[in-house]
Amino acid sequence: MSRVVYVNGQYVPYGQAAVHVEDRGFQFADGVYEVIAILNGRLVDPEGHLVRLERSLDELRIRHPMTRAALTVVLTETVRRNRVKQGNIYLQITRGAARREFAFPVDIPPTVVAIARSVDMTRAAANAAKGVAAITRPDIRWGRCDIKSVGLLPAALAKQAAKEAGAYEAWLVDREGYVTEGSSSNAWIVTKDNVLVTRALSTAILGGITRSAVLELARREGLTIENRAFTVAEALAAKEAFVTSTTSYVMPVVSLDDRPIGNGGPGVVAARLRAVYEAHAQSHGAGKADWEAGFLAP
Ligand code: PDD
Repeated sequence: MSRVVYVNGQYVPYGQAAVHVEDRGFQFADGVYEVIAILNGRLVDPEGHLVRLERSLDELRIRHPMTRAALTVVLTETVRRNRVKQGNIYLQITRGAARREFAFPVDIPPTVVAIARSVDMTRAAANAAKGVAAITRPDIRWGRCDIKSVGLLPAALAKQAAKEAGAYEAWLVDREGYVTEGSSSNAWIVTKDNVLVTRALSTAILGGITRSAVLELARREGLTIENRAFTVAEALAAKEAFVTSTTSYVMPVVSLDDRPIGNGGPGVVAARLRAVYEAHAQSHGAGKADWEAGFLAP
C-alpha cells in the first residue's frame, strides 16, 4: 500500500516528501512536534496534543499555520489516507525556510509535516507484561524542556545509551540528583507507603499528555499522589516504577541501572493504571477535561 505524507498543504508520496534545505527545523531545530497515538483508526486525546502544540508554538513565537480545527482535519485525513488503524502520527511544525540567519525571518510561512505510521502493539504488550529495564544518565538538555521542541539530540544520546545497555529507557537525572523524566517519557514511582510520585510540572520536564490523563485516572482510582521530584536512591527503594508516554502508555520499569525495583517484576499499581489508561485510550480520550492544567502556566 502506498504511503502518503502531508507536507505544506499537499499529500505527497512518502518517497518524494521533502522540505527545503534551509528549513529552520533542519538548521536550528527551530520547530516543535507532537506524537499522537492512533487506535481503531482514530486519534487518542487529540485535544490535549493540540492544546500543548499551540502552547509550544506560542512559547517560541512561531506562527500558528492553521486553526485547531483545520489541523485536526489534516491529521485525520493523513491517518485515513494511510489506512492506519493502530499506530501513531508525527506532526512537526517549524518556523519555516529562509536564508540562514539566527534571528527570526520576517513573514515566512511555517513548515507543516504530518507522517502517520502503523505500529504493532503486541511487542509493547509483551514488554508491559514482563516490565522493562531503565538506566540513568545526566540530564544535559536545555532549560525549556516544557516546550516540545525538535531539539532532541540529548534525548537521542540518552536513548542510544539505553539501547547499548540493553535497556528500554534512560531516566535523566538533574544536577541535584533528582530524576527529571525519561528521554521520551515521564517517570513515576510508587513508594513503600503506596504513594504515587511523579515530578511536578516545571521547565525541567515535558507535561506529558499521558501523564496528565494518568494523573486524573489515578485520582479516580483513589490513589494518593504527590507531584514532586524523587532521587535515584528513592526510585531504587520504591515498590514500583513506570514510565508514561504516547507510544508506551503505562510501562512498568523493573530495574534501574541493573538493580531491581520492588520484587523485580511489574507492580500492581502500574498494571492497574495501564488497564484504566487502555480503556481511556479506547474511548479516544472522552471524559478528560481541562488539558490546560497539564502544562506549565504561561
Ligand atoms: N515523547 N517527556 C519527554 C521528554 C517526551 O519526549 C515525551 C514524549 C514525554 C511523554 O509525553 P506524552 O505522554 O505526551 O507522549 C515526556 C514522544 C512520544 C516522542 O518524542 O516520541
